[in-house]
Amino acid sequence: MKVVVLGNLTGIAGSIANRLAALGHEAIPLPGQQPPEILIGFHPELLVVVASETGMEIMTVERVLKDTGAAVVAVASAGDPWFAWAEAQKFPILSPERAAEELASRLSQLVEQARAGDRARYLQQLYRGPVIVGTAPRVIGFGGPKGGTGKSSLAANAAALLAALGVPIWVFDAESDTRGNMVDFFRLGEESTVYSVVDLAAAGPPPAASPGIFQPGAHVPTFWTSVPSPKGVRWDLRLTAGVLVVDQILGERSGPLMARAADWLEFGVRRAASEGYTVILDSGNNLLSPLSLRALNIADVLFIVLEPEDTGLIAGASWLAAVYRMAGPAAFERIRVVFNKVRAESGDLLVSRLRDHVEAILRQRLPRALPVRVLPLLDVDVARAQANLRLGVEFLAALQALTQGRYAAETASFAEALRGMLAEFFPAIAQAASSRSEPRGGLRLPWRR
Ligand SMILES: Nc1ncnc2c1ncn2[C@@H]1O[C@H](COP(=O)(O)OP(=O)(O)OP(=O)(O)O)[C@@H](O)[C@H]1O
Ligand SMILES: [Mg+2]
Repeated sequence: MKVVVLGNLTGIAGSIANRLAALGHEAIPLPGQQPPEILIGFHPELLVVVASETGMEIMTVERVLKDTGAAVVAVASAGDPWFAWAEAQKFPILSPERAAEELASRLSQLVEQARAGDRARYLQQLYRGPVIVGTAPRVIGFGGPKGGTGKSSLAANAAALLAALGVPIWVFDAESDTRGNMVDFFRLGEESTVYSVVDLAAAGPPPAASPGIFQPGAHVPTFWTSVPSPKGVRWDLRLTAGVLVVDQILGERSGPLMARAADWLEFGVRRAASEGYTVILDSGNNLLSPLSLRALNIADVLFIVLEPEDTGLIAGASWLAAVYRMAGPAAFERIRVVFNKVRAESGDLLVSRLRDHVEAILRQRLPRALPVRVLPLLDVDVARAQANLRLGVEFLAALQALTQGRYAAETASFAEALRGMLAEFFPAIAQAASSRSEPRGGLRLPWRR
């Protein structure tokens, strides 16, 4: 493969070129600032940009890409403009320390990933709609100690919002019984086939994580439903349910069955991530259910959804204290507290009260800040509309503004707060929202149109 590495001969670029050359690739390191014609003349199949070393400008590199169709891998650290650029373009990004090694060991995979970014940009042009690029697959759970706080609502709304903005989303419901929350939020009526991890578990254990060619059981039948998008929205949104038939989980066999369902859940989540989906998990609150417990545990980020009143605060505090005792302060890095249905209470005040409770239970001070998000109370009509089976999926609060629905005005602040909450993990969303001028690359937030 013909590779041009932009950076210093004696630096990272040089060592990348050496490693690739040793593997039989034609690798050319180019230092400093080069006219685009020189780069184009090399007809590179892959361009590696070493952010800390190159003197090239982003615009010049973009021109080269346009002419050559080369794939791009960036070597950059967070905070570098090249990092932001590569992330927005959906190009793979390697850390400077490990770049040479990773390029040598995963070259074809990285090139494939870069090409996938190209396809995404192509789709963006085609759609001229909001396509969010540059997101790594992640597993985002919604759980919490109390019933009815809005875990499922937030999971559904977050999934819909991200999906509508172009992030491929796979929702797993680890909670609800019978057809339950997620199936209903997405208006999958009785006529659609819905798959559940408990059904799958009833038929057998999941296949081994990386099945061999001749391994029995390597073939996995479809175990998701593609959720049809509402009018005016394009998305890639899949759903796998939890418990669909209640009698399965009653009786003596329920323990082993749910444990196996948890294995299926984990298998499914890994499969989803490997296919580039971001996973949204309705993790629920049931620590006695192996399924719910697994869903809480495999989340990379767990939103603990609380209500602002006292019982909500105290239940939240005892959960957080339990997490702290079991997993230590490091676990808090993966936790975000969300106060949902907030009227006028200030987020700061809520978090300081929550913190007081946690510290009182633990009898010690928490070593770090508790990240807290606040989502406003929706008016009753809207809350009902998003759960009303006879209405379309666009009645989800997060989609009202996007589809210019009846409740667009009533849901605007909720959708905005939700966007802010997710922007931590999907910087492209924040970027688009904060740029007042016409954003680059056709990335638009329709509710700001
Ligand atoms: N921000 C909000 N404003 C007003 N109502 C809300 C809001 N979020 C959720 N609700 C309502 O609260 C109720 C409970 O929500 P939801 O089912 O999402 O909670 P849950 O935590 O998943 O409950 P469970 O523990 O039963 O699974 C629903 O009627 C929902 O419409
Ligand atoms: Mg629920």
